[in-house]
Amino acid sequence: MLKLIMAITGASGMPYALTLIREIKKLDVELYLIVSAAARKVLSLESPGFEESLDLADYQYFQEDLAAPMASGSFQHSGMVVCPCSMASLAAIAQGLGSNLIHRAADVTLKENRPLVLVPRETPLNRIHLKNMLAACDAGAIIMPPCPGFYHRPREIHDLVQHTVSRILDALGMDNQAAPRWGGGV
Ligand SMILES: Cc1cc2nc3c(=O)[nH]c(=O)nc-3n(C[C@H](O)[C@H](O)[C@H](O)COP(=O)(O)O)c2cc1C
Repeated sequence: MLKLIMAITGASGMPYALTLIREIKKLDVELYLIVSAAARKVLSLESPGFEESLDLADYQYFQEDLAAPMASGSFQHSGMVVCPCSMASLAAIAQGLGSNLIHRAADVTLKENRPLVLVPRETPLNRIHLKNMLAACDAGAIIMPPCPGFYHRPREIHDLVQHTVSRILDALGMDNQAAPRWGGGV
């Protein structure tokens, strides 16, 4: 069975994270979830009842658990996504700090040449944010801000979120039907 690592960090955009979990669990994928302390704060503010979606994960870890399987390159998995990715976690990953489980797992994913998708959420972006995105991209990460297209004529926030989540799963190489695909015309 495919294994996927997902980290949720303390940026705004928790509907993306919870929808992503639900869509991953529609696939034949084992989900390893790490939720940062700041993410739990933002989850409680943005998405009351979030625990139900987190509990869909097959395994959950705290950011302090540096002995978890994904802290080692010997852990075989198909990729990792950080959604949403705070500017703080982006900076830590771009600089290879590895000082909590999220940053360490991302560092290991890069060194093992596995897909790492970062979904950074901040606006506007300062020079530090942009430089960190470039550094992470240079190291092999896929930088994927949640910027939905409008060509599929979304009617609700749900449609926008599903579109972004579908593209994230595409970037991870996960075949999915989370959103309609462009068919070449309207
Ligand atoms: C309600 C709320 C919303 C936040 N939104 C963002 C955001 O959109 N982007 C961001 O980079 N940080 C945001 N932050 C700040 C991060 O939570 C903070 O930098 C934190 O240290 C990130 O830690 P982590 O990366 O370990 O989760 C927000 C904080 C709160 C409380």
